[in-house]
Amino acid sequence: MRVRISPLRKPIKAQGLRVPGDKSISHRALLFAALAEGESRIAGLAPGGDVRSTARCLAQLGVPLVRGDGTPWGADAPLRPHQALPLPERDPDMGPDDAIVLGTGLRGLRAPLEPLDCGNSGTTLRLLTGILAGAGVEAVLIGDESLTRRPMERVAAPLRSLGALIETSSGKPPVTVRAGHPLRPGAIESAIASAQVKSAVLLAGLFTEGETSFTEPARSRDHTERLLRQMGVQLVSRGTKVSVQGPARLSGFALEVPGDLSSAAFLLALALVAPAGSSLGLEQVGVNPTRAGFLDALASFGARLRLGDGKGEVKGAALEPVARLSIESQQLRGADLDGDLVLRAIDEVPILAVLGALAEGTTTIRGASELRVKESDRLAQMAQGLGAMGAQVEELPDGLRIEGLGRLGGKLHGAELDAASDHRIALAFSIAALGASTPTILSGAEWADVSFPGFFALLGRLGAEVEVLT
Ligand code: S3P
Repeated sequence: MRVRISPLRKPIKAQGLRVPGDKSISHRALLFAALAEGESRIAGLAPGGDVRSTARCLAQLGVPLVRGDGTPWGADAPLRPHQALPLPERDPDMGPDDAIVLGTGLRGLRAPLEPLDCGNSGTTLRLLTGILAGAGVEAVLIGDESLTRRPMERVAAPLRSLGALIETSSGKPPVTVRAGHPLRPGAIESAIASAQVKSAVLLAGLFTEGETSFTEPARSRDHTERLLRQMGVQLVSRGTKVSVQGPARLSGFALEVPGDLSSAAFLLALALVAPAGSSLGLEQVGVNPTRAGFLDALASFGARLRLGDGKGEVKGAALEPVARLSIESQQLRGADLDGDLVLRAIDEVPILAVLGALAEGTTTIRGASELRVKESDRLAQMAQGLGAMGAQVEELPDGLRIEGLGRLGGKLHGAELDAASDHRIALAFSIAALGASTPTILSGAEWADVSFPGFFALLGRLGAEVEVLT
């Protein structure tokens, strides 16, 4: 889909907005519920393509799931006849993004009839690899063109050292997990900080007899640890080391998925760069500290963000903390972003680069080399796109240096951009386009649906002009 995005001319004002459910937590809620004994009820799942991929794979593995509208989730998935287990009964109060999952227990997954298609979702492929290796279920995991370019040895290698037999295609998908190779517990030391690798190892550890640990160079997001603990798993975190005791028994749970901070980030950025007098208020946004580096980055830019009632109020701190976030338009100053903050804002780097381009002064982002192996090479894409809009951007091996043009001078101009089959690039370029001085043509705008379905419709409701060209 090609769209023409015109610069915002009038202030935007909206309160009480909700963003889609958190994608990281949604994947985990579905996957862990599948391994539980008993029923789980999940409200407000991420509605985008990635979580649908997870649900469809689980259906192929014989897990009964039903969504809010009463249809089986993954209804089109190829199932063996014996896999069609009775579905849970739908609750009439369920919303469209709610689900009921009948857990099959750790030993209940069935070998799928066909490859498991993880679509665009690295989290689906990497976490499932850990589960399947632990469960000893033979399966081939595949994905779309973008996922097929992404590194998988980072999960395959540690799982092999626990005894799994896993094949990759020169380190990339397809990934084949072979049955008949029971795992043993072990201590994994990882060279990269990654919540996906950590989760794959911990999930495999649930199936083994004894303690499995994962140590990483810095602490990645801890959604897995929080939810597994809630489900009764014995799990200990100390510094950057997490260990899990197997074999585990997981209890079903009820969970309201918080709004996705990674999606909220685009709206917060929009409010900041919108014409003077703009303000936005977002409700129920997840602010897990291992994941909320974007909020700290905003502070470095000098942004005045209010949490809760303005006193930093955060609710539900035990499982996943949530807060109301409000913000107003203002001129930002350049920021130096590095280290732990960047790890905790790894998915927000594209939109932080846009803020850098519209700030006054220089913004430097370092410690973000992982961006080169996301859905696209996000450092290269942002340097190229913002460069085409007139910003001076230097690509560093692990980041970007951006000479900010300032928001009010209208110096960032429109351009012809492509989303590079990457949702966060599509979303980041859209915000840049709204803060520019002339219209932008964006190709591949539909990629936004991977994490933020309805994004362009929401922009329209906020007063933006987005015209679909093809
Ligand atoms: C995620 C972890 C991060 C993040 C991704 C989601 C997760 O990836 O970039 O979007 O849900 O565990 P890495 O684990 O590769 O850092």
